[in-house]
Amino acid sequence: MTTYTLRRAAAEKVRTDVVVVGITTGKGKALVPVPASRSVADAYGRRFAPMLASLGFRGSFGEVAQFPGGDQVNAGRVLAVGLGPGDDLTAEKVRRAAGIAARNLGNAASVALALPAEEADAARAVVEGFGTGLYRYDALRTPPASSRLADVVVLSEAARRADVVDAVRRAQLLVEVADEARDWVNTPGNVLVPEVFAEQIVAAVKGTGIEAEVLDADELARLGCGGILGVGLGSAAPPCLVRLRYAPADAGTSVALVGKGITYDSGGLTIKPGGSMSHMKSDMAGAAAVVAAMKAVAAAKVPVTVTGYLPLAENMISGSAMRPGDVLTTLSGKTVEVLNTDAEGRLILADALTMAAQDRPDSIVEVSTLTGPAVVALGDRIAALFGDDETVAAIEACATRTGELFWRLPIPEEQRDSVRTESKVADLLQHNWVRWGSSLFAAAFLEVFVEGLPWAHLDIAGPSYNTGGPWGHVPSGGTGFATATLVEYVESLAG
Ligand code: BES
Ligand code: ZN
Ligand code: MN
Repeated sequence: MTTYTLRRAAAEKVRTDVVVVGITTGKGKALVPVPASRSVADAYGRRFAPMLASLGFRGSFGEVAQFPGGDQVNAGRVLAVGLGPGDDLTAEKVRRAAGIAARNLGNAASVALALPAEEADAARAVVEGFGTGLYRYDALRTPPASSRLADVVVLSEAARRADVVDAVRRAQLLVEVADEARDWVNTPGNVLVPEVFAEQIVAAVKGTGIEAEVLDADELARLGCGGILGVGLGSAAPPCLVRLRYAPADAGTSVALVGKGITYDSGGLTIKPGGSMSHMKSDMAGAAAVVAAMKAVAAAKVPVTVTGYLPLAENMISGSAMRPGDVLTTLSGKTVEVLNTDAEGRLILADALTMAAQDRPDSIVEVSTLTGPAVVALGDRIAALFGDDETVAAIEACATRTGELFWRLPIPEEQRDSVRTESKVADLLQHNWVRWGSSLFAAAFLEVFVEGLPWAHLDIAGPSYNTGGPWGHVPSGGTGFATATLVEYVESLAG
């Protein structure tokens, strides 16, 4: 366990293994320590800047340099992290730089962070960036690795100000839940089958004030959830749906969060090529983000009613698997002609969205690793955002505070028409083999099931899983993407 303490102290006096000092650049490329780290620079006097320069450190964003603390400071080691131009410093840069510092700590048991934390948003960024930057998925190594880091001191002139204290507390909470989401995303498909994921969700929300209910395959059949059941047909592990409910007495608004929970996506009979299948254990990242966000919302006692709908299934191949050409009857009563078993997400989401809409919440936000084409369009750090103007604007506003990147895409009329008119046998067409704008078609399909309620669809296929090396505060593998923005959105509804 790592403990965070907010302290107003001079960085050079703190007894710690490592002191992290933030360095910006000023006029003429001069190295300018941020206010919290100035006392460290002063302790070295005129030797500070030349010493950094001799290490090749120029203060560019993301650069790091380290040296022993010596007699000048009480820290064993000084870790300088570059923040780039001082007049262009943002909370998001602080978040990423703090993550970079976390990954360069080495084997330290204690650390003091002398980064910009004088304002609530910066203090939040320091703790979120540093905390999430520490993340590693080591659960499956033998013996399981664990970090020695026990104490993190966040230095701030405003350490006693209520808004800063609150921001740090919330950031810690967010780190905790985002890490939990990442663990789930990283857990392999052979371990995290639908029923196991459901059990783990139930265990994870126990004692949090969130009620959990698992609808098993029999119950889903009784209700008529043909979408979830159809996708689950090919797997030896049956599908299910987890319903979560957080309903504080003082709530004025209600929101439904829906998360795609495909524990593994082989593509089914429309099988994926091997290369694109290798990280499909991450196809439940939407569900993981919803659970994580609800835990943070409940812990912060946000006065908003939140229901979570998590359809869980494994998309596999067997003699009983769903075939292209099959017709499924969804919970809405609408029939769907399946033309591509790899477009399975929209089938399980159809039932979950209908369930969510039945409660008539004030809005629905759905999160899914839905389409590869969204990654083609926006790359793997930006999520596609769809929905009505108002809900989309609200999500965009929240995302500017969390640092997560979204870009709105449209739902064109012709894609809506295609969904509703182009099946030769059923009410709805599940997939259009015309490749252009496939993410938009998927969104148009989902829209049918929200029954006119305010809604947003977050296609996180790209940013939910980092197939490359770590960057900023974002690790390799599961990223926990969307958790922060969902929490922010629910908080924004509290007014
Ligand atoms: N789970 C995939 C989408 C995905 C792709 C997630 C890459 C993460 C990274 C989804 O079920 C799928 O297979 N989508 C199809 C959409 C297509 C049929 C329009 C795809 O990506 O090919
Ligand atoms: Zn999928
Ligand atoms: Mn698929």
